[in-house]
Amino acid sequence: MSYPKVTIVGAGNVGATTALVLLEKNLCDVCLIDIAEGLPQGKALDLMHMRSVEDFGPTVMGTNDYADTAGSDIVVITAGLPRKPGMTREDLIDVNSGIMKSVIEQAAAASPEAIFICVTNPLDIMVYLAYKESGLPTERLMGMGGVLDSARFTYAIAEKTGAPVSDIRALAMGAHGKAMVCMPRFSTVGGTPITELLSAQEVDEVCERTIGGGGEVVALLKTGSAFYAPAASIAHMVEAILTDSDEVMSVCSYLSGEYGIDDVYTCVPTRLGKQGVREIVELPFDEDELAALRESADKTIATLDSLGLRG
Ligand code: NAI
Ligand code: 2OP
Repeated sequence: MSYPKVTIVGAGNVGATTALVLLEKNLCDVCLIDIAEGLPQGKALDLMHMRSVEDFGPTVMGTNDYADTAGSDIVVITAGLPRKPGMTREDLIDVNSGIMKSVIEQAAAASPEAIFICVTNPLDIMVYLAYKESGLPTERLMGMGGVLDSARFTYAIAEKTGAPVSDIRALAMGAHGKAMVCMPRFSTVGGTPITELLSAQEVDEVCERTIGGGGEVVALLKTGSAFYAPAASIAHMVEAILTDSDEVMSVCSYLSGEYGIDDVYTCVPTRLGKQGVREIVELPFDEDELAALRESADKTIATLDSLGLRG
């Protein structure tokens, strides 16, 4: 049986864990690539040793050579430094910009028809940089942030209400960072918006817990940032694309006028299918919700402008 091919650039915590989740889903062959010699090969071999125990069909290979990534259906970019305690995602701009430029150039040359999912932080800036550097069509270039943030919102609501996560639908949008926008009216437990189940203060608390979720993990780990939930979130997007599921999820997508926001990548409800971004879904937000989303996008735009990236 032949499987689609997914390349993961960066075989660190997020990249290798994503490989594991994808293999467990029996979805695709995986090519792990990293600049560190031996690292992707060693992790790939370890995963291949696991194959008979877990009984998954696809294979995984590790490499330092982009020639091995050629013809990928999807390329996930996790290469770059994670933050440490006390750092914001923005503190990573300088070092990760250089990495993103070199990765997108080589990965896009090897797989010009692939769909690209950027993960490297600061996400909204890095995916825009990849767009500018590569000239890829925006339907085939997106970022992972909103799926993770919505998952953290789901967790925070479950903790506060005691409801099972399976009953909860939560939506976090905007920048993947402090300017994230939680949408309580569009976040439900058993179909009822949390604004009707929790007090205003409790709603604020679950939103704060969500926005601080990544930082909470960094403060506990001390050596890096989260990777289990990020890997599951990436794999969820990959699965939606490979299975042409048409599912709507919060994806860091390019906006060209939707929600009154233009020429920036930010997390919005996005329908995913085999061509990548099938549709930006415009939900009926009220004036305050729209203002919050635009304010979040404006912050990303201000950073892009200060870096001379827009226009
Ligand atoms: P890590 O340090 O465990 O792994 C990063 C890997 O990238 C290392 O193996 C390193 O050798 C590799 N690398 C560095 N430069 C490279 C290059 N030029 N080409 C290929 N590989 C290269 O870090 P981790 O925890 O895996 O995080 C990776 C990135 O993902 C970080 O920037 C982190 O902030 C970001 N992240 C983003 C999330 C999101 O929701 N968008 C969630 C979690 C992490
Ligand atoms: C997170 O939210 C580091 O962006 C990453 O955990």
